Amino acid sequence: MKVLVSGGGGQLACELQRTCPADVTLESMPIEALDVTDAGKVEGTLKRIKPDAVINTAAYTAVDAAESDEITARSVNRCGAEHLARTCGEIDARFIQISTDFVFDGDSTVAWRPEDRVNPLSVYGRTKLEGELAVNDILGGDALIVRTAWLYGAHGSNFVKTMLKLMRERGAVRVVDDQVGTPTWANSLGVALWCMLERGLRGVHHWTDDGQASWHDFALAIATMGSEIGMLEKMPDVEPVPGSEFPTPARRPAFSVLDCTQTRAALAGTDCIPCVHWRENLATMLWELHSA
Ligand SMILES: NC(=O)c1ccc[n+]([C@@H]2O[C@H](COP(=O)([O-])OP(=O)(O)OC[C@H]3O[C@@H](n4cnc5c(N)ncnc54)[C@H](OP(=O)(O)O)[C@@H]3O)[C@@H](O)[C@H]2O)c1
Repeated sequence: MKVLVSGGGGQLACELQRTCPADVTLESMPIEALDVTDAGKVEGTLKRIKPDAVINTAAYTAVDAAESDEITARSVNRCGAEHLARTCGEIDARFIQISTDFVFDGDSTVAWRPEDRVNPLSVYGRTKLEGELAVNDILGGDALIVRTAWLYGAHGSNFVKTMLKLMRERGAVRVVDDQVGTPTWANSLGVALWCMLERGLRGVHHWTDDGQASWHDFALAIATMGSEIGMLEKMPDVEPVPGSEFPTPARRPAFSVLDCTQTRAALAGTDCIPCVHWRENLATMLWELHSA
């Protein structure tokens, strides 16, 4: 099977490459090779490569910058998805769109199910939702839309690497404790995506690591594990603060834990280990980063 991954320079694309099954021929294309906003280029590239499936990881992911750059965010997050989905329909390729917990407004205390009401609070969330809707308009239930959350990996910039840097430089950090979600190792999502493709999943699915955390819980775990394995010289001070102390251009959901029950059940019996707690995956990733 031949699979094309767009957004090839990003952290999820990197983990898709690392977790790629032996029977898959992977064409991972960074923006320089495939700009998803260019409809003609998308059509020409897909028709030339003729993939059996396309996984769209390309996105405008700078959540705060998107508030003042809506046109660019939309051109990538909605139009890019639309261009890929349209050509996939024409060449009869499977299409997997990666989406986000930010399509929800966070006004809940129970994990969000795929069918729950969406109400994004930010330009990023809104344009990602528009991407989902565009894909659905073109391919209907044939497309697979996978919402995930709080991604990190050894490749690329993310919360884990930023925290380690700040903890080393300052010895103390102040971290928001009133936003709750699920930290998710991009590698575990990569494995799950290959299994979803193998199983032929369709429709909207949720995938994150198991459990839930505030950003403060996440930072404290990074500090504790990082100190234990010698990535940090001493245990830094990790102070909890309300989000109101860190005003940002984009509003973020207060509670964006995703209910992955249906997807985990659908992947039973595949190579995908169904329920790895975020702490366990964080420990693995930190160890990997430390040994690199
Ligand atoms: N990161 C998270 O916490 C998170 C949470 C929930 C959902 N997601 C979703 O998961 C997916 C993967 O995220 P990620 O963390 O891997 O993001 P990432 O590291 O920012 O990767 C996205 C990639 O897309 C590329 N890109 C931007 N504009 C493009 C264009 N016009 N054409 C082609 N490529 C383009 C970016 O290139 P440049 O770097 O050169 O701009 C980057 O390499 C995205 O759909 C994202 O919305 C992410």
